[in-house]
Amino acid sequence: MIVRVLGSAAGGGFPQWNCGCANCLDFRKGVFDGPARTQASVAVSADGRDWFLLNASPDVRAQIEFSSVLHPRAPRDTPIAGIILTNGDIDACLGLFVLRESQPLHVYATNQVANGLFERNVLVRTLQRTATQLTFHALTDGVPVPLCGPDGNCGLTVEAKSMPGKVPIHLQDCVTPTDGDNVGLIVRDTHKNKSLAYLPSVAHWTPTLESIADTVDCIFMDGTFFQETELPAQGLGMHNASVMSHWPVGGESGSLRWLANRSCPRKIFTHVNNTNPILRENSPERAQLVACGIAVAYDGLEIRL
Ligand code: MLT
Ligand code: MN
Ligand code: ZN
Repeated sequence: MIVRVLGSAAGGGFPQWNCGCANCLDFRKGVFDGPARTQASVAVSADGRDWFLLNASPDVRAQIEFSSVLHPRAPRDTPIAGIILTNGDIDACLGLFVLRESQPLHVYATNQVANGLFERNVLVRTLQRTATQLTFHALTDGVPVPLCGPDGNCGLTVEAKSMPGKVPIHLQDCVTPTDGDNVGLIVRDTHKNKSLAYLPSVAHWTPTLESIADTVDCIFMDGTFFQETELPAQGLGMHNASVMSHWPVGGESGSLRWLANRSCPRKIFTHVNNTNPILRENSPERAQLVACGIAVAYDGLEIRL
């Protein structure tokens, strides 16, 4: 399986358009030790021919241009055989509407995520210009689904695993939160018997999370915030990490300490917020990750499993 990181930042990207935090300011001054990042998404393929996007970020157009494997091979064409969603957040699915030029799209998501996206949303009509433009494939917790391209089975399955999270901010007070609002994805290469976990939004530890991190060959983990009070401490609003349903990386009860003890051989934080000190390659927080053998995803990173 080939895994290509298209984007590695949390919502807003790095730097974020309206953000004057220390990281964003230093980046604009040209004194930041680390690259810019687009909003989180990865592309996976068993054969390098048919590709599946894990989330469709608002930056998907630029991400495709930057990745030659995703370029069209004919006058109207795409190697993107499907798009699999972890939740209905803007940074996870706005890219669907960017990919609107009548190209057939296969979208895989839970019914909860699909309902939030397709109900009462007039924009979805731009993906329904023809009867065959948008095909929806329902994901159910714990049930692997084969991923198919135009010529049939692509040698991959995807399994959604319910994760603690939240409904998208624009749906708060409109829907009752349930399991299936936020999932992690396990992609398996059925020929090579390799597996990838993609978990960009995880509110806290669960036993399911632990069993995933002890069995897959590579894990991408929620790296949104380093600290619980990261935003308020920098004067950037009221919300702590737990209010935003993101398990902080640092500290005694943080995800870093937990992940360091998991047996997965390849561990990578992604969906990193622009305020997070792990974005700075010379920061003490980044050194803590390095000491545990844990990486930070960057745009263009490619992994073969
Ligand atoms: C999140 O990851 O918490 C969301 O993407 C936040 C947002 O929608 O702005
Ligand atoms: Mn997000
Ligand atoms: Zn910032």
